[in-house]
Amino acid sequence: MKHKLWIIIGLFILCPNIVKAQICITQEAEQRARELVSQMTLEEKIDYISGPKSFYIRAVPRLGIPEIRLADGPQGIRNNTKSTLYPCGILSASTWNRELVRELGHGLGRDAKARGISILLGPGVNIYRSPLCGRNYEYFGEDPYLTSEIGKQYIQGVQEEGVMATVKHFAVNNQEWSRHNASSDVDERTLQEIYFPAFRKAVEEAQVGAVMNSYNPVNGVHATENPWMNIDILRKQWGFKGILMSDWTSVYSAVGAANGGLDLEMPVGKFMNKEQLIPAIKNGIVTEATIDAKVQHVLQTLIAFGCFDSPKESSNVTKDNLQSKETALKLAREGVVLLKNERQTLPYRKGKTLILGPNADIIPTGGGSGFVTPFSVVSVYDGMRQLRGDKQVELLSDSLLYKDLADQFYTDKQFTQKGFKSEYYNTRNLTGDIFRTGIEPGIEYAWKYGAPFAGMPTDQFSARWTGAYRAQKDGTIKFQLAGDDGYRLFVNDQLITGDWGNHSYSTRSAFMEVKAGEVYKLRMEFFDNVGEATVSFRAGMMDEAQLATSLKRAQNVIVCAGFNSSTEGEGFDRPFALSHGQEYLINKVAALHNNVTVIVNAGGGIDFRNWGNNVPSILMAWYPGQEGGLALAEIITGKVSPSGKLPISIEEKWEDNPTFNSYYDNRSVAHKRVQYTEGIFVGYRGYDHTGKKPLYPFGYGLSYSNFAYSNLTAEKTGTNNITISFDIKNIGKTDAAEIAQVYVSDLHSSVPRPLKELKGYDKVYLKRGESKRISISLSKEAFAFYDINTHQFIVEPGEFKIQAGPSSAELPLTTTLSL
Ligand code: BGC
Repeated sequence: MKHKLWIIIGLFILCPNIVKAQICITQEAEQRARELVSQMTLEEKIDYISGPKSFYIRAVPRLGIPEIRLADGPQGIRNNTKSTLYPCGILSASTWNRELVRELGHGLGRDAKARGISILLGPGVNIYRSPLCGRNYEYFGEDPYLTSEIGKQYIQGVQEEGVMATVKHFAVNNQEWSRHNASSDVDERTLQEIYFPAFRKAVEEAQVGAVMNSYNPVNGVHATENPWMNIDILRKQWGFKGILMSDWTSVYSAVGAANGGLDLEMPVGKFMNKEQLIPAIKNGIVTEATIDAKVQHVLQTLIAFGCFDSPKESSNVTKDNLQSKETALKLAREGVVLLKNERQTLPYRKGKTLILGPNADIIPTGGGSGFVTPFSVVSVYDGMRQLRGDKQVELLSDSLLYKDLADQFYTDKQFTQKGFKSEYYNTRNLTGDIFRTGIEPGIEYAWKYGAPFAGMPTDQFSARWTGAYRAQKDGTIKFQLAGDDGYRLFVNDQLITGDWGNHSYSTRSAFMEVKAGEVYKLRMEFFDNVGEATVSFRAGMMDEAQLATSLKRAQNVIVCAGFNSSTEGEGFDRPFALSHGQEYLINKVAALHNNVTVIVNAGGGIDFRNWGNNVPSILMAWYPGQEGGLALAEIITGKVSPSGKLPISIEEKWEDNPTFNSYYDNRSVAHKRVQYTEGIFVGYRGYDHTGKKPLYPFGYGLSYSNFAYSNLTAEKTGTNNITISFDIKNIGKTDAAEIAQVYVSDLHSSVPRPLKELKGYDKVYLKRGESKRISISLSKEAFAFYDINTHQFIVEPGEFKIQAGPSSAELPLTTTLSL
């Protein structure tokens, strides 16, 4: 039975413990800003609350207010510069290493300073609901506690370098599908327990300088126009004094944003401008005091961060920084997760290694604003050669594995003329009169901003190419398509693959088995909406003899599979499965060889059903950054024992995911309201709730060693804390790191609660045979839930279960305690 008395927690940390090196908005900064605001005209103030151009806050030279530069984030500095490409966000979370993520923040801060950037647009802390979200790779996984901890370290690291971090995207931006329009409809408790904690910790504990609103409406009101979120929660409840900026074009009305708590419209003032706000002020719909508060927020934060006083560009920091490179390597080493290792296939200690697959000799990254151009990269092939020497490593690149079929296409089934027949239209959808026909040897065009032919428009045109192919022998063809905007391929009138929508450059591949002597009819279609126009089509026949020969020569095999910036990224969601062709290649290799490791590049879970059981070893490498190939080679060769653990649950099939029925709005395209009906039961909370078992659970990851857990104690320390202690011993044969996790369960609650929740963790390095006692402190927050009646976090006194162990699905130590 619960006691009637509730312990009210409310705001856990009203007055945060301020870490020395953290930047605080002091009263002096506020006063200096107030004086500046009082000297500005209304016109100047309105101008000031929007960007003058992308990635700048404007200058007011008359008052000595300097121009401020911003840049993306989160995994390196973007925007017209080469920079260290760190591993992506979900990999950083997979390290579960607070110090290392803080080091990442320091690296990013230094890289920003070296380029005169005062505000970094990161980290992204949106919660992982489903594997499909195109931006999962930028975020920190499915758990609010882990996400908050990683986010806090990242922010503090960046800000300790004097650079302002921006926590984004506030809030509930958990899919890329229809991100401007689809409202995330979420109840208050779920927002407070799952989707807000990382933002709250960023404000209350990490003292983040800036917050970025998301594109999506929240409960029907756009984030930038949402006074409940921006004023009541962010400012009043959490005490945020910094800058609240929009995402790039996430403002949808002038008055809505002005009164909804937004300070700064980015990249430019499409709505918050003089033309729209002066009449609104004259009519009394918006007050001048509201505008003043926005300018005040921006100025006081810039002043506090020293943006007025310190030099813009730090000349004593190098751009291609060795320290940053080292940080990128350390993160990749610790964030790669070993998912499967049957027969202890890994490490590959000796023998020749064959490396193949589309990502064998590149380092893929996710796409969109998180894309970074590095100075150099180390692919898996490079990394293996560095550690093993050229003779012990063979690369079977896609260009060697697939023999180009360019000269085997004919205009029709009579096979008299080589090439494709083309038809061009002055419309976007292949309708109306044909503008021009022709015969073309191949399809490889980059018209950029121009038109294919004089007389055609530079936008809104389309084209179709048709041809025929007769297979010389049985085999598998790989089709490789790319385009900006839409493109698609039909074979015998069946759609094979494509990306038929308005988008920037993307690629798609598909595989098809063909029979000797059979004829195949090909049709490739393309349209340009606006902007650049590019299209290409290639086809290659898998050289199976070459594959068999290379496999025979090798003692070990690595297949580098996964997504890349054109198949996973900002602005679109991705499929759950790898492309058919990649699955086909993995199975082909697995049928011919025993020692096969598949390295997966992805921002989240993928579908393993078609091939996972056929290979003995799988490494989840996420997007491991510029040094990723070296880190992977160190793990593969046994120099380093893998120590990353999943910050997500990976479902066996997408239908098992707790959000399966609530990820898209299934009702109508016009309506677009995504109802988060699973509530607080996201990720492992959801699997525990439904009783379905994920294929790879949250917190899971293999090592080359083994660990034993024992002697759990829970002790009340001080008035408010409980200290959980236990021993971990490395009982395997290898020095290795282990991530120990602590979960809390409320045994009797007046409201439905998750079966267990992560509330503490530690990463420890243990030499073989070594043992350490771990102590993890739990504050009251670890036992609380959000009470919708009092609108506060509360702890109901009673019995709680504490479990500790290596993953959410394996918790060998248990105790109970009464609060
Ligand atoms: C993204 C933001 C990013 C901004 C600037 C937007 O499209 O959603 O995360 O910071 O662009 O590049």
